Amino acid sequence: MKKIIVTGGAGYIGAHTVLELLVAGYEPIIIDNFSNTKPFMFDRLCTLAGRAITLYQGDCTDADFLDNVFQTEKNITGVIHFAALKAVGESVAEPLRYYRNNLLATLNILSAMEKHQVQDLVFSSSATVYGEPEQCPISETAIRQPATSPYGATKAMAEDIIADVAKTGAIKAVALRYFNPIGAHASGMIGELPLGTPSNLVPYITQATAGIIPPLTIFGTDYATLDGSCVRDFIHVVDLAKAHVATLKYLATAKENYDTFNVGTGQGTSVLELIKTFEEATGETVPKNVGDRRQGDIPVCYANVAKIKTTLGWQAEATVADALKDAWRWQSNLKEIEV
Ligand code: WQD
Repeated sequence: MKKIIVTGGAGYIGAHTVLELLVAGYEPIIIDNFSNTKPFMFDRLCTLAGRAITLYQGDCTDADFLDNVFQTEKNITGVIHFAALKAVGESVAEPLRYYRNNLLATLNILSAMEKHQVQDLVFSSSATVYGEPEQCPISETAIRQPATSPYGATKAMAEDIIADVAKTGAIKAVALRYFNPIGAHASGMIGELPLGTPSNLVPYITQATAGIIPPLTIFGTDYATLDGSCVRDFIHVVDLAKAHVATLKYLATAKENYDTFNVGTGQGTSVLELIKTFEEATGETVPKNVGDRRQGDIPVCYANVAKIKTTLGWQAEATVADALKDAWRWQSNLKEIEV
């Protein structure tokens, strides 16, 4: 079995990707410091997998810890590097913590790969590297704007570091630029678990609808869009997970040492449209009000997904309604004790 190190593998996108790796016949080895997830997520992941999954609890900023994992786990084929701090607003307040954590973790992963001759790397990047795009849909050739947050800057810097290491031939790497991941595994057993009040739209909607937090504030309906609310490319987290498996398969025979791919649906959905879709799909009513714009939000952001489809043969299959139904099932299954 091809062993794949999955950093952040007990987290939201990581856990869904671990499941898809198993389905595809890979052997995932999880590294997670549980700073942004809970142990029950890992337990449920093993239950869904129907088997034990190897877990190393620790931090990717600890080079000795990482070296030990690579030393212990022989014949590692590749790495999927999710582990990072990812809250945009928090990164503005704590830039040093974000630069140190996200960049040192990436540098340590690259060093361990070089030392232990692990070739393939899939890096979790973000559409945030595009900043406010000049046009939509956004292609990978769009210039990366100066980051609108330290979080976004760490993603762009990590992409450059990885590209430079790949140029030496030591590794082959792909940076996947995620648009807006939403939803949960259809079982309702794993999903997005924001620690504290959610900053992202869909977990805020599901928790507000469950009555756990105050009503949703829609951050502005005065944008120059069809209905005045912002437009995003919301992609089902399971589709996103499958894109990582498709990327590993591509890397096994890739001629390029480094490439980037947008991972989205290629469709824009406005905030108001998403809320309406959620209410129609679940029969629930979202408690909401309209407030001021949120600083840093860009009006429209959705992907051109032609490159990943042409190169990897991957495309998103689930609809926004599917993802919202799954998100609501996950929320409905969550018990206070577990959160
Ligand atoms: C989406 C839309 C908000 C919350 C962020 C990161 C990005 C990536 C995905 C990590 C916006 C509106 C939101 C709320 C609202 N994360 N909204 N009320 O900002 O597109 O992207 O998450 O990689 O890097 O930037 O996602 O879900 O926060 O917001 O009206 O309570 O929903 O204004 O228009 P965003 P989001």
